[in-house]
Parts: sequence; structure tokens; C-alpha cells
Amino acid sequence: MQDPTRQELEAWDRRHVWHAFSQMAEYEPLIIDRADGCVLVDIDGNEYIDGVSSLWCNVHGHRHPTIDAAIRRQLDRVAHVTSLGSSNPTTITLARRLVELTPEGLEHVFFSSDGSSAVEVAVKMALQYWRQREDPRPEKTRYVALGEAYHGDTLGSVSVGGVARFHAMFGPLLFEPFRVPSPNPYRLPEGVTADTMLDHYLGQVEEVLRKHHDMIAAMVIEPLVQGAAGMIMHPPGYLRGVRELTRRYDVLLIADEVAVGFGRTGRMFACEHEQVTPDVLCLAKGLTGGYLPMAATLTTDTIWNAFLGDYAESRSFFHGHTYGGNPLSAAAAMATLDVFEEERTLEHLQEKIARLAEHLDRIAKLPHVGDTRQCGLIGAVELVRDVATKEPYPWAEKRGIRVCEHAKTEGVLLRPLGNILVIMPPLAISLQQLDRIAEAVSHGIVQSDELRG
Ligand SMILES: Cc1ncc(COP(=O)(O)O)c(C=O)c1O
Repeated sequence: MQDPTRQELEAWDRRHVWHAFSQMAEYEPLIIDRADGCVLVDIDGNEYIDGVSSLWCNVHGHRHPTIDAAIRRQLDRVAHVTSLGSSNPTTITLARRLVELTPEGLEHVFFSSDGSSAVEVAVKMALQYWRQREDPRPEKTRYVALGEAYHGDTLGSVSVGGVARFHAMFGPLLFEPFRVPSPNPYRLPEGVTADTMLDHYLGQVEEVLRKHHDMIAAMVIEPLVQGAAGMIMHPPGYLRGVRELTRRYDVLLIADEVAVGFGRTGRMFACEHEQVTPDVLCLAKGLTGGYLPMAATLTTDTIWNAFLGDYAESRSFFHGHTYGGNPLSAAAAMATLDVFEEERTLEHLQEKIARLAEHLDRIAKLPHVGDTRQCGLIGAVELVRDVATKEPYPWAEKRGIRVCEHAKTEGVLLRPLGNILVIMPPLAISLQQLDRIAEAVSHGIVQSDELRG
């Protein structure tokens, strides 16, 4: 079969490929043909710095020789082995390594295929745990989740999610968690200040737990940063406080580190910043360096033990995905962890984090920038119509999209969250590339402001 022409590719892309979170009536094809490090190259040879880490998952850059080689080596052994009743050396070794790397106390790894599944697994695991433990608590069937949370797009993850624009539509299919407001330091409620916000928001968590802990199986949280909500960055101490409260009220804590895990916050895992061990930890995205689909849900001996028993007792965890624990993905994950060590990624990250901070300081002074915020190598710029009142731009004005469209003309690929610009390149980004991203964002902000007049 002949290679399709550029025109054919564009036409087929528009006609046949239904792109995620995209309005297909307006979709403009951007067809990436290859990549090198942190640079993506389209079919016309145009280069773009990957400023969004291919949706928050790329860690060490594209086509990293160590990861490429590990996948090739694994291909010469076996590409796939089912995890239903069998195993393979690469996946076993990865499980061991994840247990060693993650916060103390997490001992067991359930592999699945993507971040949504990692959370889905966690939610189901928590429910089954309460039903099966020695002193069963079958009435514990409810969850606590944060306002504007995002945990993925399968129905369990959507149920604990809270981004109205994405999730409201599916209401009839969802279960209802107890909802606590997202601690958003930029948009504090009347009467709450920077000094009182931590107590205020933890107080709200405590109220729900105090009233309803008897029926609550688990609280689900994106530690430190609520990604899809618009990179909302929680006040320091919030995660630790939530851990203490969930422990006090005998509620499991599920930490969804799908977006913030693997170095993104400046440490390997966000929970490390507040010395927290959750009862269940969800990982995906950066786990394979952004190469292949894989997720992991880790948990403690306590939870694991509730699933042990005779075959006839039917205490197994009734959940599984065909490709869970796939050896090719596991090989990519092992190599990703090797590169962290060999290239001392976290050490080198610190100067990039500092450089991003400098850029954000400058960007904060541009017109219509209401807030800039940063956690590790996550930078966010919130554009508002009125800086004094924090009045948001109407969604339909596509403020964020317009800035990103401009950035693309400067060879920088970004994806906004509504009016919030997100700078989230691979950890392997160079300082020069980071400068270019910040420049493109700044120009985009200024230009879209001028265009509007
Ligand atoms: C915090 C969080 N959890 C879960 C998910 C879902 O992951 P996936 O898209 O791999 O299903 C995401 C995706 O962005 C996420 O940010």
C-alpha cells in the first residue's frame, strides 16, 4: 500500500479520528510525524517544543535512547503476558521497584492501563476492602472528593471528579460523593485569608468526616495540585491535614498522583512533600516516561490482607484489564526509572524550576494576568478579564486557546485549561527551551490582548 499523501492524512484525520476533548467541527489537524528529545516534528518538518509533555506524561523527552533500547530488548523476549494468573520478570521487577520508591508502607501493586483505570481500581478496592476485612463495615460505601477534581473519564473516576463542564452531562450515570470545596488560594471565599485558609478548608473536610465517616469508604485527592481544574495549588499543609483527618475518622485516603507523580513537583512523588503515605496511591502518565499506556494502584498490607482467603470465599479483587502489567510498558517504566538515576533528573530539575519561577514573575506583570502559580515544573498563568475583581473571561472567548495558537506560530506546543495557560514541559527540557516557551507565552498574552483592542 502506498503511503498516504499529506492531503489524504488531513482529510482522514478530520473524517475518521475522533479526537479527545476536541470540538471536531473546528478541529485543525496537527500531524506529528516524529520527535527528538523535547521537540516534536510535524509531517511538513515544522518543529514544536513539547510544552505540555504530550499531555503531562513525557518525562525524559521523546526517543530517549535508554527507553527505546529497553522496549526493543523486551520485544525480543515477549510483548505481552496476561496478568490474570501469570507474570513476567520485567513486570515483577517493576512492582518491586515501585514499592521501594513510593512512600513507606505501600507494598502491593495492581497494574492497569491508564490513569482513569488506576483511580477506578482504587475506588473499587476501597469498597471491597471495607466489606471483606475482618471486622467488616459494609455501610462504608461513600466517598469524599474535592470540588473541581479530575480523576479521569471512566464512570467511577468521573463520579469522584467535579469539573462541571466535563462531568455534569453524565450525572445520570454517576454515584454522588460528599464534596468538599477545592482549596484555591487565588479565589478564596469572602472572609477567608491566606492566613486562615488552611484551617478553613481542613475544617470543611473535618465537618464532612465527622458527620458521615460511618458511611465513607475513602477520600480521593490530587495531592498538592489539582491539574485539570486549572492547576489549583493547595496551601502547604493541606495534604498532611487531610491525611491526619482521614486517619482519625477511619477513612481511607486515595492519592491520585497520575499527573503529579514522577518528579513533576520537584520530588519523585507529591506525597513526599508532606511526608504522607496514602492508603492507596494511583500512578500513570509519567510511569512509562510518556511512552506506553500503563498505570499502577499501590496499596498497603492492611488492604491487601482483606482480599486473601480460600478460592471458594470469593474474596479476590474482581477487576482486571487485558493489558494490565504489559511487559513492554513495564520495560519502558523500568528504563524511565533508570534514567532518573543515571541523569540525576531531580537534581537537574531544580534550576529549571527556578528559571520557570523567574519567567512567571515576569509574566505576572503582563496585562490580564490575574495569577501565576507554580509547583515544581508545573507553571500556570490565569488570564482574567479584570485583574482587580478576578472576573474570568467568558469561556467562549477562547482566551487560553488564542494564546496557545500564537505560541504554536513560535514553535511551542501548549494546551490551555480554559483561561489558564499551562507550562508543563518534559523534565528533560533545557533552560533555553524553557526560555522559548515562556517567551512564546508572553508574546501570546500581549498579542491576544492587542488583537482584542
Ligand atoms: C489527576 C489525574 N487523574 C487521572 C487522570 C486520567 O488519566 P488518563 O487520561 O491516563 O486516563 C488524569 C489525566 O489527566 C489526571 O490528571
